[in-house]
Amino acid sequence: MTSDLWWRSAAIYQLYVRSFADGNGDGTGDLPGVRSHLAYLADLGVDAIWFNPWYPSPMSDAGYDISDYRAIEPVFGTLADADALIAEAHALGIRIIIDVVPNHASDQHPWFAAALAAGPGSPARERFWFRPGRGPSGDEPPNNWQSIFGGPAWTRVTEPDGSPGEWYLHLFAPQQPDYNWSNLDVRREFEDVLRFWFGRGVDGIRIDSGALLTKDPLLPDVGLDEPPGPAHPFTDRDDVHDVYRSWRAVADGYPARVLIGEIWLPDAARLARYVAAGELHTVFNFPYLTCPWDAAALRQVIDETLALNAPSGAPAIWVLSNHDVDRIVSRYGRADTAFDLLRRRYFHNFAVDLALGTRRARAAALLTMALPGSVYIYQGEELGLWEVQDIPDELRQDPIWRRTGGADPGRDGSRVPLPWSGTEPPFGFSPAGAVREPWLPQPKEWRELTVSAESASGDSMLRLYREALRIRRSSVALGDGVMAWLPAISGVLAFDRLPGSDAAGGGVRCVANLSGGPVELPPHAAVLLASGPLTGEGKLPTDTTVWLRIQ
Ligand code: GLC
Repeated sequence: MTSDLWWRSAAIYQLYVRSFADGNGDGTGDLPGVRSHLAYLADLGVDAIWFNPWYPSPMSDAGYDISDYRAIEPVFGTLADADALIAEAHALGIRIIIDVVPNHASDQHPWFAAALAAGPGSPARERFWFRPGRGPSGDEPPNNWQSIFGGPAWTRVTEPDGSPGEWYLHLFAPQQPDYNWSNLDVRREFEDVLRFWFGRGVDGIRIDSGALLTKDPLLPDVGLDEPPGPAHPFTDRDDVHDVYRSWRAVADGYPARVLIGEIWLPDAARLARYVAAGELHTVFNFPYLTCPWDAAALRQVIDETLALNAPSGAPAIWVLSNHDVDRIVSRYGRADTAFDLLRRRYFHNFAVDLALGTRRARAAALLTMALPGSVYIYQGEELGLWEVQDIPDELRQDPIWRRTGGADPGRDGSRVPLPWSGTEPPFGFSPAGAVREPWLPQPKEWRELTVSAESASGDSMLRLYREALRIRRSSVALGDGVMAWLPAISGVLAFDRLPGSDAAGGGVRCVANLSGGPVELPPHAAVLLASGPLTGEGKLPTDTTVWLRIQ
C-alpha cells in the first residue's frame, strides 16, 4: 500500500454485491463470490473497492434499507466473511470502502420497531420524524413533500392500541424511515458505526444521500415549482456540516481513512462546502456523470469540478456510471447522450446504437482516467455492459418502478449480474449446479462480453481498461496533480498531465476527438494507448481518445 493519501489518485471499483458473483448458487451475489474473484480485481489494477451496502436488509431498496449497521446480510455471508475479505484484499494491495446510509433506516430496524411500539411523544419516536396528520381526522400527510421514489413522503402508522395514528417521513420508500439528525442518539450511533468498521480495517466510507440528512424542523410545504429530486428543497442545510465535522474527527482517529460524500447538488458553491477543511475528503461528481458526450459541455464540467475543489485542495472524483444511472454504453448510443434521474423514461425511448455507444464509452474511459484526481469504475463498465431495458415487468425489483406505477423504468437495468464465462446464462455468475437463476435475467448476447471472452480478445473493453489502469498507475503524471489545457479545434479536448518538477518520468498528453472528423495528433514522443485504431495517416478518428507520451 502506498501513502496515507492513497484516495487522492485511486482507481476505485464499485462493487454491487448482489450482482458480482454468486458463491453458493442461490442466484444472488455474495461475499464468498467476491473473495473468489479478488484476483480479477487485482489484475484489473484497481486500488480500492467500494461496496454497495452489505448489511442485513429486507431489500426494499436493494440494501439501502438497513436493519443492522454492524453485521452482514445473511444472503451475502457473515461478518467472518467480511473480515476475511478485508484481509485478503489488503494482502493484494486493495483497500475497502463501504457504504454507510445515514439518512434513513429500514422499517425493520429495531429502533423503528421500538418507535412504533412506544407511541406518540416517546423518546423512541424522536429518533425519526413522526408528526400528526393534517385535516380534522389527521388523515392527510403533515406536509406536501413527495418521495424521491414517487408518491407522498409520509406514511401513516397504526398506533399500538389499533387506532390510526401519526405519520412518519421517508424521502425514499415507506420502508426507509428518515432519521432525525437533531437527535443525539442518532449522532452517537453513527459515530459508533464508523468506529466499528474502521476498527475492522475498512479504509473508507461512502456516505449515501449525504446532503439530505438534516431537515428544517418546521417541515414546511414546498412550493409547486419545486419538484422532488435528489436535491430536496428543504435539505442541504447548514447543520449537516456539524455532522460531517464530527465524522471527520472520528475518521482522523485512524490512519489513512477517507470520507466520500454522495452529494447530489446542482450548485457547485454549495457542493464545495462539503469538502471544506475538517469535513469530507472528497465528493462524487454528478455533473460529470450526467454530462452529454459533447466536448464543450464536458470541458465546462471539468473546469467547474476543478474550480469547486480548488479552494479546499480536495481531489476531484471522475465517474461515468453507477448503480443508479443508465449504463454508459447505452447512454452514448442514444441521440440524447445526457442523463437525468428524473427523466429515465424519456431516455429509454431512444433507439440505442451499441456499436457507437461502445466506441464512445472507450473514448470516455481514457478521457476520464487521464483527468486529475480519483476515478470510479462501476462493475461491468470494464466489460462494456449495456443497460438492460427489456427486463420483464414481473421481474423488476426497483421500488422506483413500483412506486411510479411503471412510469419510471427504474434502475434494475444497470444491476444485472455480471457475465464471467461460458456461452449461456448464468455465464459463470453462479456455480455449476446452482439452485436458482440469477436474480435478474442476463441477455444472451452477453456471451461475447464475459470476462473470459474479453480476456481472450485483444481489443476488448476489458483489455483497454486493464491497460489504461496499468499505465495510469505506473505514470507519475496521471492521477492526482494538475492539468493544463492545450489549444484545440472545436469538438476536441486536449490537455497535458505533467509530473511535478522533482519527479522522474514523462508527461502524458490526452486528446479526445468528439468532432465530426479525424484530427491531426499534436506533437508527441510516442502513442501510449488509444481507445480505437488511428487512421492510416496517423490521425485520430471521431469518438476516439489517445494518450501520448511527451518528453
Ligand atoms: C442513494 C443510492 C441509491 C439509493 C438511495 C436511497 O442515492 O445511491 O441507490 O436508492 O440513495 O438510499
